[in-house]
Formats: sequence, structure tokens, C-alpha cells
Amino acid sequence: MLTLVFGGAFDPPHNEHVKALQCAVKTLGAERVVVLPTYLPPHKGAGYLDFETRAELARLAFSETAREVVVDDEERERGKDNYACLLLADMKKKYGDIAYLIGGDSLRDIDTWKHPEKIFAECPVVVAPREGCGDARAQRDSALKKYGGEIVLLDIMGEDVSSGRIKAKLLLGEECPNIPKKVAEYIKERGLFVEYAETVRKLKGMESEELYAHSVAAVMRAVDLNSRHNLKQDFEKVFTAALLHDNAKQRPSLDGLDVPADSVGTPVLHQFLGAEKAKRDFGVTDEDILNAIRYHTTAKADMTTLEMLIYTADSTSYDREYDPIPELRAAVDEDFQGGFGKLLAFTYRKLQKKGGSVYPLTEEAVRYYLPGMVGER
Ligand SMILES: [Fe+2]
Ligand SMILES: [Fe+2]
Repeated sequence: MLTLVFGGAFDPPHNEHVKALQCAVKTLGAERVVVLPTYLPPHKGAGYLDFETRAELARLAFSETAREVVVDDEERERGKDNYACLLLADMKKKYGDIAYLIGGDSLRDIDTWKHPEKIFAECPVVVAPREGCGDARAQRDSALKKYGGEIVLLDIMGEDVSSGRIKAKLLLGEECPNIPKKVAEYIKERGLFVEYAETVRKLKGMESEELYAHSVAAVMRAVDLNSRHNLKQDFEKVFTAALLHDNAKQRPSLDGLDVPADSVGTPVLHQFLGAEKAKRDFGVTDEDILNAIRYHTTAKADMTTLEMLIYTADSTSYDREYDPIPELRAAVDEDFQGGFGKLLAFTYRKLQKKGGSVYPLTEEAVRYYLPGMVGER
């Protein structure tokens, strides 16, 4: 009897997970599904929701995908060193004949996994290709060449839906059509994802409808980029920084807050004021979040990944349809670092064309990231 092993954070599980699993069960004729929710020690946090809740949601989401469905808490039992290569060896001992289901994003990033060769040596790997994850056939061929083993590509193309995007929608109180009905009901019953309701309510009172829509578009863009490029940024930091990045845009009063004097009266004031007001009005104390807000317009030299992410998400947010943003957005989709450089170059040239002075932090960013552009006038 073949058992299909499916691991993931399931934070929360969504319809694309269900579709992939159903297709894999059918394609392989598997009779049993073993779902393995990821577990990391509590201080590291494998997800927004805790392990028990994610396990319960996985049970609800996947209960009808095979004759027998087991949600196995092996990862929590082990507690640490939960590498797929080690887990699969245990699964084989427990369940016998197994195959391992992964998503197209995992196949794309397989070289970054611990001992990929051991994974492929353990059992066949089944891949559910996903939009936005590159050419699955080419990735399969390259993995087979490097690691050997067997790879089954499922004949589906999953929509580019990330758990990050779903979490963001739920936290914003928006409609979320991409989760199984039972999961949605459980979330509602248990009052999950309500932690930011007050923040959202407050922000809506401070931003015009258009600006709030932009803030939401920036959130979606940021969580998408975080997952697309596997940037591994903490979900709540990304969410909070993107949501609040323009909180001071329509509230320019200085209120005695500490902002650089040379920014007053310029369009970049709102980034500094935004960080101060996020602290004062939204109780944000995390310096990583505050700095991502603080430099989202000017950029600066030597940025953290979170700062670059918020800068990039804001400049290529989904509400910006004017030229050349769609093109720059595609560049960022293709290559995060390279796309960031293109954005910075575009902004710098635009500012130069306008003739006014370029804010010193932006000059420094250009010197740091685009040394070839310095002096280009
Ligand atoms: Fe802004
Ligand atoms: Fe913005």
C-alpha cells in the first residue's frame, strides 16, 4: 500500500494544497496520506498559528483526499533537526512504501535543502508545479541529473496562491475564497486571525480609500515577494511594515516628533514621520519594522532584507499600473536584488530629471548599490 507523505506549514492550508494532494493521490493510486505539519521550537515559530491549530486545520482540509488520512505529529515529537531527509527515513519505517509530495516552489529551491541527495534516495518525489515558480520540467531534469532518484511531475498547474497572502487577507478582514470551507468555518468559530482588527480599523480612519487600497496592495505585494523569492522574512514584520508604511502620508503634522530637519516640507517626510507615528499611534516597537517604514521612499545604503522588501513592494505594488511599473514589477519578480537595483536606478533618474535635489539617503543608496551610476548626469 502506497502512502503519500505531504509536509508543510499549513498556516493555514488552502485550496491549492488540497488540489495538489488530490491529484497526487489519483496519479499514484495512493491509499494513505500522511500529513506532516512543520514544527520549529516555539521561539523560532514555524508559523503564525501554533502547531496544534495548524494540525487541526490540516485534518479538516485534507480529511477527504484519500481512503486513510493521518496527520502525524512526528516533527513536534522530534522537536529539532526536522530535515526532510531524516523525516522520510522515519516515515518509511512507520508506513512502508512511501512517496513524497512537494510543491513547485520546493523543487525550485531544492538545492537549498539539507542533503537533497538523501531525499531522492529515500523515495520517489512527486511535484505539484505552481505558477510563478519557473520551468518545472527543466528543474526536474536538473535535479535528476544532480541527485538521481525518481521525480513525478503532476499534470496540474497550481495557482500562485501563498499562505502568506491568505493570512494577510484574513488579518485584514477581507474575503478569502482560497481556503476550504471547513477551514474557513473553524477560523471563524475560533476567532482566529483577529489580532490586527484594531490596527486595520484605526488605519482606515487615517487613510483615504485610495491610500488604504494602496497600503493593502503593498501588503499583498510584500508577502508575495517574501514567498516568491524565499526571503524568509518574519510574516508579521512584513505585514505590519507594509500595512503601516504610509500611515503618516495624509497626517503631515510634526507633533514635536523626531524627524530629520532636511526632510520637512519634502515628499520624503512621510517615511520618517510614518515610523514615529507607527510607534506612537500603533504601539510598534520593533526596530526592524520601524526602519522598514523609515526608509521606504528614499532607500539607503546597506539595507536589511526587510527594508529592501518594503521599498520594493511599495514601488511595485499591485495598484501601480502606470509605465514603467509593470515592467519593473516583472523585473523584481524575476530577480529580487537585480529588480531592486533597477527600481533604484529608475527613481534616481526620475529625481534627477525633475531637477530638484536628491535626498542624501538616496544618493548614498545609489553609491552603495549602483556605483556605476555615480556622477551620471
Ligand atoms: Fe510612501
Ligand atoms: Fe506607499
